[in-house]
Amino acid sequence: MPSFANPFNANVDRKISKEELVQAIRLDIAGELEAIYLYDAHIMATDDLLAKAVLSDIRDEEKAHMGELMALLRHLDPKEAEMFASGESEVKEMMEELGIKEPNLYEEHMPSLTVGSLKK
Ligand SMILES: [Fe+2]
Repeated sequence: MPSFANPFNANVDRKISKEELVQAIRLDIAGELEAIYLYDAHIMATDDLLAKAVLSDIRDEEKAHMGELMALLRHLDPKEAEMFASGESEVKEMMEELGIKEPNLYEEHMPSLTVGSLKK
């Protein structure tokens, strides 16, 4: 947890290079993934319907943040973007070889929760 006692704690004394920015964005992505992981754990750990709905909404916003950061990383580092695309192609090829059409099994286990979905 960051310390908020010093309001200048996160300030830096210089601008960062593009390479350092790419590294910073990777760290930011890791932070978003950690947040998603923790919100999911908290959603699974409670039966409080309102808490589940609120945490699910926040978790989904973190997923959107991750998407924004990934798009920014692709923009800042096109070579890395090519590697992402290569990895995605490899998985698509494996899916074709295995006859898998629907990649999203996650949604069955961790559905997006809204107040409406919880009324069922
Ligand atoms: Fe976020």
